[in-house]
Amino acid sequence: MDGKKAIEIELTTTKKEKPDFSNLSFGKVFTDHMLMMDYKDGEGWHTPKILPYQPISLDPSSVVFHYGQTVFEGLKAYRTKEGKILLFRPERNFRRLNQSNDRLCIPHVDEELVLEGLKQLVWIDREWIPDVEGTSLYIRPFIISTQPYLGVSASTQYKFMIIMSPVGAYYKEGIAPVKIAVEEEFARTVKGGTGTAKTGGNYAASLKAQEVANEKGYSQVLWLDGKEKKYIEEVGSMNIFFKINGEVVTPELSGSILEGITRSSILELLKHWNVPVSERRISMDEVYAAYKDGQLEEVFGTGTAAVISPVGELFWHGEKIVINNGETGKLSQQLYDTLTGIQNGTVEDPFNWVTEVKEN
Ligand code: COI
Repeated sequence: MDGKKAIEIELTTTKKEKPDFSNLSFGKVFTDHMLMMDYKDGEGWHTPKILPYQPISLDPSSVVFHYGQTVFEGLKAYRTKEGKILLFRPERNFRRLNQSNDRLCIPHVDEELVLEGLKQLVWIDREWIPDVEGTSLYIRPFIISTQPYLGVSASTQYKFMIIMSPVGAYYKEGIAPVKIAVEEEFARTVKGGTGTAKTGGNYAASLKAQEVANEKGYSQVLWLDGKEKKYIEEVGSMNIFFKINGEVVTPELSGSILEGITRSSILELLKHWNVPVSERRISMDEVYAAYKDGQLEEVFGTGTAAVISPVGELFWHGEKIVINNGETGKLSQQLYDTLTGIQNGTVEDPFNWVTEVKEN
């Protein structure tokens, strides 16, 4: 780090009690510290600081409350059997954060500085990284617009924060297959919208559809393109892959889906294994035809929170499309084992994806 923006550190005097690491849910408890940095037009991003985890005070007229100008990221830290601390492709998250910033008119952060701040924060709260299989420390960097102003324009003030939470599986099913309803009424976004950015509004827009799906016994919805409701996009909490007659297909980055970091890692892994793979437009009609022909072999989602999540059933046009007898497919399991193995240091990392966090 150069000295120009050294990160101030204020340690807590009252450490919190840690949860039972063998019984963790997702995103409900938070570590002892957080990172915060402010922005003001004319001053830029300034005073990065690690401080005790605490509520923040904001003016009720802050732009974020009214117009949702906000972005976020999600990544994880893992503890290896030898006690090393690993991050998975963290530089990608901060690159994507700045891409989301572009879309939401938020000033870029210094990617090197925030990565350095993240490493220091993880090191300080390292006792919170769980060591039980299937667990990790979920890291949530985010930015909110804080200018007190009710006019619709880009804020002149922001807060960047990083908070962290020890987590288990994202879905209540754990790594067992999830059931997903194909969304036929609502749309998440359209090309030219904010679908490629990681911004709160995309997730707010998904809640109604998810609530309806939950009532019918489905965990999530699979979004189709907003225009024709024909082509498959993503699940919202994860990107989606189909194995059809030996080939793995995932929707291309069409301008309305999120460019998942797990998605691109899985594509690289499959290519490395010489598994036929393509990123292209894929319709629900095609998936249904493959199912009817007995060629729909596996379906799985990918995401930081979801990791690799096998899909056991899709519900579409009133019909249940059961995949691989509702069981985890062989390839989905191999991908899960390899990816989590690289992440937690039990499988060799030929791609240089992991970064070790050490004392500064
Ligand atoms: C992640 O996978 O990190 C996400 O941000 C998805 C979120 C819905 C938990």
